[in-house]
Amino acid sequence: MITHTAHDALLPNYARAPITIVAGEGCELIDDTGRRYLDLIAGISVCALGHAHPAITRAVSEQAAKLVHASNLFFHEPSGELARELTRRSGLHRAFFCNSGTEANEAAIKLARKRAFRNGQTERNVIVSCSGSFHGRTFGALCATANAAYREGFGPFPDGFAFTPFNDIEALASALHDRVAAFIVEPVQGESGVHPADPAFLAKARELCDEHGALLIFDEVQCGMGRLGPLFAFQHFGVVPDIVTMAKALANGLPIGAMLVSETASNGFLPGDHGSTFGGSPLSAAAALAHLHERDRIDLEQHVKKSSAYLKQRLHALAERHLEAIAEVRGIGLLQGVALRHPFDAASIVAALRNRGILLGTAGANTLRFAPPLIISESQLDDALTALEVTLSA
Ligand SMILES: Cc1ncc(COP(=O)(O)O)c(C=O)c1O
Repeated sequence: MITHTAHDALLPNYARAPITIVAGEGCELIDDTGRRYLDLIAGISVCALGHAHPAITRAVSEQAAKLVHASNLFFHEPSGELARELTRRSGLHRAFFCNSGTEANEAAIKLARKRAFRNGQTERNVIVSCSGSFHGRTFGALCATANAAYREGFGPFPDGFAFTPFNDIEALASALHDRVAAFIVEPVQGESGVHPADPAFLAKARELCDEHGALLIFDEVQCGMGRLGPLFAFQHFGVVPDIVTMAKALANGLPIGAMLVSETASNGFLPGDHGSTFGGSPLSAAAALAHLHERDRIDLEQHVKKSSAYLKQRLHALAERHLEAIAEVRGIGLLQGVALRHPFDAASIVAALRNRGILLGTAGANTLRFAPPLIISESQLDDALTALEVTLSA
């Protein structure tokens, strides 16, 4: 007879913290003992409007009472409307919806190859990505993910994927050639430890992709949807890609992924080329639309600009006071990384902060990751930073 507890019945593929979350409210999460935590990781860069936001709850409830699923055999209003909103706001041409970030990147990789094939360029099949990259855990996205920790034990990997050093313009010039179908890059690498791209690197990527007929894909799964300030990360950098992939915050917590494509790339997929049963479900699309409208209503871009300047200034001041602990503060907008010096250990600091009622993430090598709800206030940031300083000094 199986006797394990409910939690023991889960596969052990996550290193979960020993708390059980039962509810959320604004920037706080509440556990099964009623304890409240200030949440500065937001479901890993997901709940931009915080938890249980009334606009999202209302949109989901109303949509659930009408239509949850009909499949992509038919049109339905929320996904069409969401495609229209995202193309209008990005200036890109068409949208494809799926359920997660890795699926959005699978779609982009497949589209790049199919487009080359359809254009009679059967030799053009190489997907280039960067050192330190993370594009997801399904097989195609994993092939484009450089970080060895995610790849170990999953080989052999197929041909047609190549890596180039992140932010190395010279190396990029030899990595991009006429057999490259697409170059995929995160404008800010999240999982590798919060490393922003050099704007000149992205501008050069645009130039080289144009020169060689390759598609430029920005993976905005983590750094998009307003986390850097503007709705799209590419708008921060002023470099327009052919494809943007999105997920995480798009529907403020409901599962959705999206691939937005330029007019030139939109001949990549024709009927039957790609699909997803649940992709762009009315429920997730309704939540994403509510998120976009609420973002406008409260001028979240302006708020992120202000609160991220405040966070950065406070983090840099903290780093100056704690040179023994903090090696570097880096990031853009409300995606900030604090790299720690040995023997300070990011996982232990996160655990100690959790005991003080603050939830923070880690990323890459010994780095604390701040990815709070975008609605976070300066006084909530103060609470978190005070707790961090006390923890570093303990
Ligand atoms: C940049 C980036 N791409 C893709 C993914 C994969 O997204 P998902 O976990 O929704 O599949 C992530 C997740 O962390 C990410 O940060």
